[in-house]
Amino acid sequence: MTRTFTCATATALTAGVAPDGSYYYPVFPYASYTRMTDQDISDLWAYMQTVPAVSNEAKGDDIPFPFGFRPLLAGWQTLFLEPGPFEPDPEQSAAWNRGAYLVTGPSHCGECHTPRNFLGGPERDRALAGSTAGPGGEKVPGITPDSKGFSEWSRGDLVFGLQFGLMPDGDSFSGSMGEVVRDGTSHFTKDDLNAIAEYLIE
Ligand code: HEC
Repeated sequence: MTRTFTCATATALTAGVAPDGSYYYPVFPYASYTRMTDQDISDLWAYMQTVPAVSNEAKGDDIPFPFGFRPLLAGWQTLFLEPGPFEPDPEQSAAWNRGAYLVTGPSHCGECHTPRNFLGGPERDRALAGSTAGPGGEKVPGITPDSKGFSEWSRGDLVFGLQFGLMPDGDSFSGSMGEVVRDGTSHFTKDDLNAIAEYLIE
C-alpha cells in the first residue's frame, strides 16, 4: 500500500528507511509503527516540533555480525515487514478496534510479547504468545487469552496494571515493562486502557 507522506519521520515510521536511504534495525519498532494512521503520524510530528532539542551523542550499536550488517536489513524487511496502516475489523466494536490499533500499532506490545524466529522476525501466527528474547534477553510472558498466568487477569486487572504498574498479586512490573508503564501506558486515557483490555481479554 502506498502512502502519501514525503516527510522523513513518516518514512522512518512506516517503511523503516532513514533519510540517507539506509535501513533501520528492527529494534526500532517500525514493523508496528507502520500500522499507525496518517493522522496520528502527522500529529506526532507536529508535537515533536515543539519539543526542545537536546544534544546527545547516540551510542554505537553492538549487534553481532551478520545481524549488525545493515545492507542485510533489506532482506529482513522483505521477509518480515508488512507495511500499511491498521485495518479495522467491521465485525468488532469500535472499542475493540481501538484496542487492536493501539496494541499492534503505536504501543507496539508485540515487539516484546511476540516470539521471534532465528532471523529475528516476529512469528505472526503466535502473536503475543510470549518470548524468551525480550530486551536484554528478558523473558516476556504471553498476553493471549490462553497464556498461563495472564488467562487469570480480568479487564479491570489489566487497566489497573497499565495505569499504575501493579499486577493483580501486588507485585510491580519489572524490567522493560516497568518502563512501558512509566513512560507509556500510565499516560493513556482511561478509554484507551479500557479499549486495550477489551481487545486483549475476552
Ligand atoms: C519493551 C518490551 C515490552 C513492551 C513494548 C511491552 N511489554 Fe508487557 N511485558 C514486558 C516484560 C519484560 C514483562 C514481564 C515483566 C515482569 O515480569 O515484571 C511484561 C509483562 C506484561 C504483562 C504481565 C503478564 C503476566 O502474566 O504477568 C502484561 C499484562 C503486559 N506486559 C502487557 C503489555 C501490553 C498491553 C503492552 C502494550 C501496551 C506491553 N505489555 C508492551 C515487556 C514489554
